[in-house]
Amino acid sequence: MYLGLDLGTSGVKALLIDAGQTAIGSGHASLDVSRPHPGWSEQNPADWVRACETAIAELKSAHPKELAAVKGIGLSGHMHGATLLDAGDQELRPCILWNDTRSHAEAATLDADPRFRKLTGNIVFPGFTAPKLAWVKNNEPAVFAKVAKVLLPKDFLRFWLTGEHMSEMSDSAGTSWLDVGKRRWSPELLAATSLDEKQMPSLVEGTEKAGALRADLASKWGVQAGIPIAGGAGDNAASACGMGTVGAGQAFVSLGTSGVLFAANASYLPNPASAVHTFCHALPNTWHQMGVILSATDSLNWLSEVSGKKAGELTAELGEALKAPSGVSFLPYLSGERTPYNDSAIRGSFTGLAHESSRAVLTQAVLEGIAFAFRDSLEALKTAGTTLTRVTAIGGGSRSHYWLKAIATALQVPVDIPADGDFGAAFGAARLGLIAATGADPLAVCTAPKTDATIEPDAGLSGAYADAYQRYRALYPAIKAATA
Ligand code: XUL
Repeated sequence: MYLGLDLGTSGVKALLIDAGQTAIGSGHASLDVSRPHPGWSEQNPADWVRACETAIAELKSAHPKELAAVKGIGLSGHMHGATLLDAGDQELRPCILWNDTRSHAEAATLDADPRFRKLTGNIVFPGFTAPKLAWVKNNEPAVFAKVAKVLLPKDFLRFWLTGEHMSEMSDSAGTSWLDVGKRRWSPELLAATSLDEKQMPSLVEGTEKAGALRADLASKWGVQAGIPIAGGAGDNAASACGMGTVGAGQAFVSLGTSGVLFAANASYLPNPASAVHTFCHALPNTWHQMGVILSATDSLNWLSEVSGKKAGELTAELGEALKAPSGVSFLPYLSGERTPYNDSAIRGSFTGLAHESSRAVLTQAVLEGIAFAFRDSLEALKTAGTTLTRVTAIGGGSRSHYWLKAIATALQVPVDIPADGDFGAAFGAARLGLIAATGADPLAVCTAPKTDATIEPDAGLSGAYADAYQRYRALYPAIKAATA
């Protein structure tokens, strides 16, 4: 048995698989995001630990024997978060998350230093880790002075599980401190933010062992002490391992809190000007590119909150058949946008509202807005040298076939739906746990699931979608000018 632990923005998932990679059971616990000021987004690391304990307790009560047989653990987590520890390994403040944009000024300053794009292959986005530390230095100097270790969220869980300060390449690539081509910390970039390598965790590949389970947790869960914990991966690379998106040309579209259009690459292909992210993959000597939109299911959840209807009820109101865009457009920039604009100040909008704009029309516009945001990412990937011919859908939002039809039609590529099962980040993490524990060939383990169905672009609505995409494109500069 192998255990995958995924620290998602909205909850922790613990997934147990057997040696043949069949899912045996899972446990789950929810997490909230705190937004104490506009643009801020934080979580308390202690809540992650509590959520992990709850998810594992649920798994243990349903599958005690199987849990007892775990031989390896893999970790996945939301990326870029700054978890700051003092010399006694105590958390210094809440973790500043990936969708927090408070450090936009610091990010712009670092991004203007040409060494960052050259060595990391990426724009320094406000959501990345280095500008967060620059913000803490400028605004909370007493905290900054005490920073002894900077850990990414899943690596904080590793610290709790093993007592070790360790990380791996895929998540570390999102810090703005990694030399992404050479897969090592850049002392130069760390120094540019008044830090040094001693304040960073040591690095392994995602498939390698990075610590062993502490005896006290092992006895509490009824598993063997000392079982290996794999390096694991940031949640997007972990999902890619779960989906078998590991060879050049393979791609997925992820509808989670964030939206990601992810492509695996055989080599390092940086193109920061496109606002595409170029990161190390979790498997040794491979890289990937992705377009990232900050509010995907988060946009639908926002509509759900303001309308008092559950997200599933909202999408059910649309029925099954794809509709022509109604003339109401939605820009999903609730916390700014990364790809293609790198604009943390822009905010979302509805335009074209009329008396007849019902709740269903607003839901339709929200789903279309995300689909068009993915189209922007598709174009950005093309600029960065990667042309996608089909994508596989993952993430909570992919339960809505209406949404997938909208995405297929906006992207003009078929969207594959994997056969029933659980192929997301927790599954990818469990696979990495299996590889680290057994030494199995990563490519033999990280295979693609069977495709259950393929959603083709709706030929009858392609023209209407192309027109609506042009309207969508025209709105960003207009809204920016009107709200600047
Ligand atoms: C990727 C990113 C998000 C988080 C959310 O760059 O910021 O996808 O990893 O889970």
